[in-house]
Amino acid sequence: MSPLIDDLHGRPVIIGGGIAGLMTALLTAPEPVVLISGTPLGTEASTVLAQGGMAASLGADDSPELHRLDTLGAGDGLCDEAVVRCFVEAAPPAIAKLERLGVVFDRAPDGGLRLGLEAAHSRRRIVHAAGDATGRELVRALTFALRRTNSITVLEGMEVRRLLVEDGKIAGVLAAGAGGTVALSTGTVVLATGGIGGLFNDTTNPSGSLGQGLALAARAGAELADLEFVQFHPTALDVPRRPMPLVSEAVRGEGAVLVDERGRRFLADTPGGELAPRDVVARAVSRELAAGRRVFLDTRQCLGPLFTKRFPGIAAFCHQAGINPAVEPIPVRPAAHYHMGGVAVDAEGRSSVAGLWACGEVACTGLHGANRLASNSLTEAVVSAGLVAESVVAALPAKRRHQIAATVPLRPDASHIRPIASGALGIVRDGHTLQNAVAALLPFAETGAAASDPAVVALMMAVAALRREESRGAHHRVDFPRHEDRAGRFRQTLEETLNAAAAIAEMASPVARRSRRV
Ligand code: SIN
Repeated sequence: MSPLIDDLHGRPVIIGGGIAGLMTALLTAPEPVVLISGTPLGTEASTVLAQGGMAASLGADDSPELHRLDTLGAGDGLCDEAVVRCFVEAAPPAIAKLERLGVVFDRAPDGGLRLGLEAAHSRRRIVHAAGDATGRELVRALTFALRRTNSITVLEGMEVRRLLVEDGKIAGVLAAGAGGTVALSTGTVVLATGGIGGLFNDTTNPSGSLGQGLALAARAGAELADLEFVQFHPTALDVPRRPMPLVSEAVRGEGAVLVDERGRRFLADTPGGELAPRDVVARAVSRELAAGRRVFLDTRQCLGPLFTKRFPGIAAFCHQAGINPAVEPIPVRPAAHYHMGGVAVDAEGRSSVAGLWACGEVACTGLHGANRLASNSLTEAVVSAGLVAESVVAALPAKRRHQIAATVPLRPDASHIRPIASGALGIVRDGHTLQNAVAALLPFAETGAAASDPAVVALMMAVAALRREESRGAHHRVDFPRHEDRAGRFRQTLEETLNAAAAIAEMASPVARRSRRV
């Protein structure tokens, strides 16, 4: 082992190179920490792909109270109200904090921050950078700040494959990269590993986003929450490229309309129209596609030739696909975009396992409920990173060197899992398909093969989706189409899930039943 790695034992380990990981690392300074990123910083995190924006009540006609009401409305009855209240108050200072760290946001002609509109927001409150390159600018500025912070050691191109737990507490991490494997002893781990979009055929997330943080936490014994809630963005560019380029909701905020191939505006009679909550719009688009029609976003009236200036990144994607939005509508379809569920954490980002925190998309704070309000998540990552950093520094355990003898598991591979997850956990779900998915996923989850970690994540999601016998927010069951007033939020451990899954698999498949008895 290199002397460098040897020096790192005992330091808090932050896993993930997106906004949540970068901010947590920066805000723990001057405490020495290790940041581990599977890819070189600034290349593959979901943050880099984020076009929109960061929500904060900054306009003269806006207030945290209005932001709170919009967040609760989108969350469809499942938001944690205390968390929402703290978040909306902390959002404007979070934007100011980013500016102090060097992030350059777009400005209006009067010099104030330019505020955009997105679905289900009652006010213009979304700040962007470089039009539609907000995430890229965030990562640029934060990486620059991080490289100048001596207390942060960055290990790039290393994937954490297991968390080590001793006596119910975090004891270390096992990681692997091109240079070999590394075992680091630590009593403090912050997961900032992003989402699960890579488990779906159609996604706007990096294809490597397979829910690794969820698998790490679940295998360490942590509780996960709200796993059934996956947000599908209604307007990904309908091209073969993966991840699918997003056509930001900010485009609809500028007045673009959704039409079918005959030019019929199919959301004309829906309250909110194209700016109805994202789950409503995604289901409407998906219905059109299921009926054999194509769906387009028409920007010709509202933006016309201004499109390229206002949305340069999206215009470039369109042009690469041979589409000119100034003169023709843009073909779109929904894609898995954000996971509201995650590692269940308290107000400081602590999970149910001592020494394990989570921040950003991998965490479930309760802010988003059943459906995230657009552009709340980047802001949440910044707000939560501050709380997590403070909590981590206040709770630092005495440095102890653990003896680590464990085998590093294989690199996760979701190719067998993606078709199952896409078929069962999409925009519209039903009990029969979910049961079959559980039966199909369980054997993968129980092996130590490369599909095992993605299977564990998809299995936990499918069991949660089966358990929620209602339709709410982003979770829509054709067999339970109504809201169930008494339904609350669900938490689950891996052990509970495997027990439930075994029972479900027995019911779903006689073959599974026979093979489990052998
Ligand atoms: C978008 O720009 O439409 C995405 C914003 C978000 O997902 O919050």
